[in-house]
This record gives sequence, C-alpha cells and structure tokens, in this order.
Amino acid sequence: MRVEIRPLEERDLPEADRILRLAFGTFLGIPDPVTTFDDSDYAYTRFRAAPDAALAAEVDGKLAGSNFATQWGSFGFFGPLTIDPALWNRGVAQQLLSRTMELFERWGCSHTGLFTFSNSPKHAALYQKFDYWPQYLTPVMSKSVNPGAGTQVCLPVSELRPSQKEQALAYCRDLTGRIHEGLDVTREIRAVDSQHLGDTLLLLEGSTVTAFAVCHAGPKTEAGGGACYIKFGAVRPGPAAQRDFGRLLNMCESWAAMKKAGRLIAGVNMGRHEAYRTMVALGFKTNLMGVALQKANVQGYNRPGIYVIDDWR
Ligand SMILES: CC(C)(COP(=O)(O)OP(=O)(O)OC[C@H]1O[C@@H](n2cnc3c(N)ncnc32)[C@H](O)[C@@H]1OP(=O)(O)O)[C@@H](O)C(=O)NCCC(=O)NCCS
Repeated sequence: MRVEIRPLEERDLPEADRILRLAFGTFLGIPDPVTTFDDSDYAYTRFRAAPDAALAAEVDGKLAGSNFATQWGSFGFFGPLTIDPALWNRGVAQQLLSRTMELFERWGCSHTGLFTFSNSPKHAALYQKFDYWPQYLTPVMSKSVNPGAGTQVCLPVSELRPSQKEQALAYCRDLTGRIHEGLDVTREIRAVDSQHLGDTLLLLEGSTVTAFAVCHAGPKTEAGGGACYIKFGAVRPGPAAQRDFGRLLNMCESWAAMKKAGRLIAGVNMGRHEAYRTMVALGFKTNLMGVALQKANVQGYNRPGIYVIDDWR
C-alpha cells in the first residue's frame, strides 16, 4: 500500500466530499451513508475559505481521505478528518495528522485542539498519539426559532462598505484577542462574506463591538436547509459579558427568523460553564455530544467566564 499526503486540490472536491459523507455515515451507522449531512456542506466551503489548509491522502494513486485544518490566528484546529472506510485502521489518518501538525507549526499556532465523538475509544486513542487529550464535553445544541422572540438590533457586516468591513475585522480581532491571546477568526468572517454563506452580526455599544457572531444559513453551508448555525460567537470580557451573551443569542435568533430558518444551531464547550448554562436556560437542547481535545492538555479558552460559542467541528 503506497500512501502519499499532498495538498487537496479543487479537482479532488467531489470525491473528497463523497468520502467525507461516506466515512461519517458509516461510523454513525446511517443506512445510506453518502446522504449524511443532507444539504449541508463542509468540503467545498472549507476548501474555498483556505485552500492551503486542506490535505489529501492518496492510497495507490487514488484519493482515500482528507483533512481540513483551520487557523484562527494563534489557535488552530482540524477536521473534518475522513478516510475511506475500506482503508480504516491501516495508519492513513495518522499520516494525514503528521502533516497537519507541520501546518500548525508553519502557521506558528501557540495552541491547537479538535472536536470529536465523545463516546469513541478509537478516536481518543488516535488523537492521544499526537498529544491531544480529552477535556470538557462540547454539545452541539439547537433550539427552534421563535419568529417574535429576537428583538436585538445588530449591524450585519454584509451591509458595510469595504473600508468599514476592514474596521469591523479589526474590532473583532481586538475582541477575540482579549479572550485568548492572538485568537483571530478573520478567516471565517471573510469566508462568510465572500462565499455568501450567511452574515457576521455585530452587537454595538456606541462605536465599540461588544459581541459578534459569524453565522451560516441555508443549504450548501454548515447550517443546512431550514437552519442557521452560529459558527463562532464571542462577547467582550467584562462585567457586562453575561448580559451581552443573552443579547448576542437574541440577535442571532432575530436574524435566523429574518432568514426564515426554523432552527438555530450552536455548539459550546462545557468548560465555559456560564455560557453553557445560559444556553440551556434559553431553551437550547443537545443534538450531538462531542468532546474537545487539546494539545498538551492545556485549557485554552475553554474556561469559566468565557462567553464564546464555537465547537471546532
Ligand atoms: C477516524 C478516522 C479518520 C481514522 O482513520 P484511520 O485511517 O482508520 O486511522 P488510523 O488507522 O491512522 O489510526 C487509528 C488507530 O486507532 C487504533 N484503534 C482503533 N480502534 C481502537 C480502539 N477501540 N481502541 C484503541 N485504539 C483503537 C488503531 O489500531 C490505530 O492505531 P495503530 O495504528 O497504533 O494500530 C476514520 O475512522 C474515519 O474516517 N472515521 C469517520 C469520520 C470521523 O469520525 N472522523 C473524525 C472525526 S473527529
């Protein structure tokens, strides 16, 4: 068996997407595994967000799997990582992961992590080989959208002029840097804007961005048809953070209603205890129970008092 790890290319996407759905569907025991994730998308949108962050595994000259890495400034994570089920347990994922570690090093990430299934001995064993250790659970939650509930006014980045967009990015970067040194989700904001995946919603107090949320909506995004998904949301740390977190979620629900979405999806690490319990109190229920694994077992920003929504899927 000859394994080659190389950059993923545009021409690989249909097959990479098929293997991605097949692999997850097989693992989850879905009867027709290639239909997994319905009309949601990961492969195409992630690739277009950062083509140089996607790796391909070829076995004997044929695409056998892929891994999509993400750089959020000083923080990196990877996934979806998938291998064709016909080739499982032959070390192919480990070869992809070795190259992924090199990417993180090249980017200068000071901290990295990942999301995986909380109940899989195989997944825990695989990632531990690379010094990733399971910590708190990360539930991916959702609630039905109440069309009248969201009233919080926000400023969508899509409505800004180019120079204002750059300013907004700088404000968001400043905000996330206060949560975790060097954390910067510019890549997600730009991807949503340029690929029209949804919008980034800014919550303002005067001219300060007190919170923001990068949201996907509809088919061919990470949300899928009929849903909105908060890919990343964060509140500026400080005494008003708890109040602003409620406002942020209200703002997202209001936007979801405007998009005629029936469900609002968001993941949060339970290490961010106040954020998690606020979401539970607001009616979010868990659909998928994942777990965060962090390099060298450090805590990163999965800590009490941190009001961040993300799941690293
Ligand atoms: C997870 C996945 C990417 C792993 O790919 P893979 O090529 O089979 O993984 P590898 O063979 O490189 O490594 C798996 C390791 O786990 C070990 N393993 C498997 N089952 C195990 C178990 N129950 N307990 C402990 N170790 C186990 C294997 O023996 C192997 O280690 P070894 O090489 O030392 O023997 C693949 O199974 C997949 O595509 N799954 C579906 C999608 C998915 O879950 N992606 C990851 C989401 S985070």
